Amino acid sequence: MSETKLYDIAVIGSGPGGYHSAIRAAQYGAKVALIEKKSLGGTCLNVGCIPTKALYASAELIQRIRENGEGLGVSCDVKLDFGKAVERKNEVVSELTGGIAALEKAWKNDVFMGYGKILGGNANDGFEISIEGEEKKIIKAKRVIIATGSSPALIPAFNIDHDRILTSDDILSPDFKIVPKRLLIIGAGVIGCEFANIFSAFGSKVIMLEYLPSPIATEEPMIVKELQKKLKALGIEVHVSQNVLSVDNTGMGVKATTCPAAVPRDQLESAEKSYFEADYCLVSIGRAKESLNLGLEELEIETARGSIKVDLKSLETSVKGIFAIGDVTGGLMLAHVASREGDIAVANALASLGGFSVEERTTDYRIVPATIFTSPNIGSVGIRRKQAKDLGYELLMGRFSYMSLGKAMCMGEKDGFILILADKQTHKIIGASCIGAEAPELIAEIALAMQHGLTVHDVVETIHSHPTISEMVLEGMEDVFGMSIHKKGRPVHH
Ligand code: NAI
Repeated sequence: MSETKLYDIAVIGSGPGGYHSAIRAAQYGAKVALIEKKSLGGTCLNVGCIPTKALYASAELIQRIRENGEGLGVSCDVKLDFGKAVERKNEVVSELTGGIAALEKAWKNDVFMGYGKILGGNANDGFEISIEGEEKKIIKAKRVIIATGSSPALIPAFNIDHDRILTSDDILSPDFKIVPKRLLIIGAGVIGCEFANIFSAFGSKVIMLEYLPSPIATEEPMIVKELQKKLKALGIEVHVSQNVLSVDNTGMGVKATTCPAAVPRDQLESAEKSYFEADYCLVSIGRAKESLNLGLEELEIETARGSIKVDLKSLETSVKGIFAIGDVTGGLMLAHVASREGDIAVANALASLGGFSVEERTTDYRIVPATIFTSPNIGSVGIRRKQAKDLGYELLMGRFSYMSLGKAMCMGEKDGFILILADKQTHKIIGASCIGAEAPELIAEIALAMQHGLTVHDVVETIHSHPTISEMVLEGMEDVFGMSIHKKGRPVHH
């Protein structure tokens, strides 16, 4: 019988947490196995960030032509072809997932397609992992990184039938080429708002139902207000404070029944109901962790409501030698967080083995940029005003509008603004939010500044090239002291 192959690290799951970890580990000279049950690239590349952004690119183009074309002297007859946009999206996905396969190969990582399950073992002798794919295999690894991610949350009352009542996985599947006349979206969070934008651009009448009093409640209220203004202008209906009691496929379409979110649970039956009808429904109310049937119970790896519990500094689970990263840990569900956690877990796994030139690392979640691809785009980093107040900061605030910026006016992108929060004591930047053109790119500069503890002055002292959208950051920072050149002022020196 052939001997079971022994790897330094086995990574289960090949999303931005897993494929990144596998490559990083190989860069340090580790022998790596990467195990994937479905498609390389995980949610992000197959049914998440990448396909939505590919469709968003089509939606954005439509919107730019509609909103700015004539004003910019470019009149054209826009013909929409969602099917073609979907084909292009599929090509982008397959090119990028193919790229991941090529990279893993170049780093000589063994990629196994099949369902990975940890059978047993320990940090001294290694762990046995079974892989059920076309054929069953068993491999051994000295360390394991679980990066199995998440999948759309399925709530029984919503009767998700994958026919008319859909998840984001369904709507992003390679052959979903329908533009519903009316699209009902349950959950006005990040996914809901991004899809609302895409389908509205392609001609759907979009109706959103949200439980909380505001869409994307995690963002700065001023930013959300600006977004709501735009959603309204686009004809997207957002009904907030709605408790969705049920959603049904009526055969010809879908029907949702709601009552006000304030109604207590024991009075739902007698509460006044509202009804919303549409052709299709997208349910985007959060994601469930993929932690079932991985062998966690047998090994007594601790979990909490489906999330794998990890030491928040080292990312090691309750079992020595097994690490977990990304969505499955129940932390910030962002691709870039999963990738960074991959760096940390790999470093700690290899440092504990010895023989690799890498030291232990700890996580740092203070500065995590977030981006939302709505129209306009949203970007944020650090804390919000409410949090700053709760934490006892005395705040300095700068605000600058796109309509005052030369480059933005040239582009016809005058909606939105940037908001900078700084600590009055130290003048250090503690948060920023932006809604408008290139907002996610602008936030990258501020994240770098925050990561290195820079003050508002440090950023202002950096020459920003003209004319660029990056001047939004400069003017926003200058406005913290009432010194923005292109804003009628209130000179306040601190
Ligand atoms: P989410 O947590 O962002 O939003 C879910 C929304 O649904 C919330 O506003 C919530 O209040 C609402 N909700 C929950 N139950 C409800 C109910 N029964 N009736 C009505 N509303 C209800 O989750 P989402 O949008 O599903 O996204 C999942 C994760 O994926 C998020 O953590 C998000 O950050 C991440 N993501 C990130 C993207 C990016 O970085 N651009 C893009 C898409 C997703």
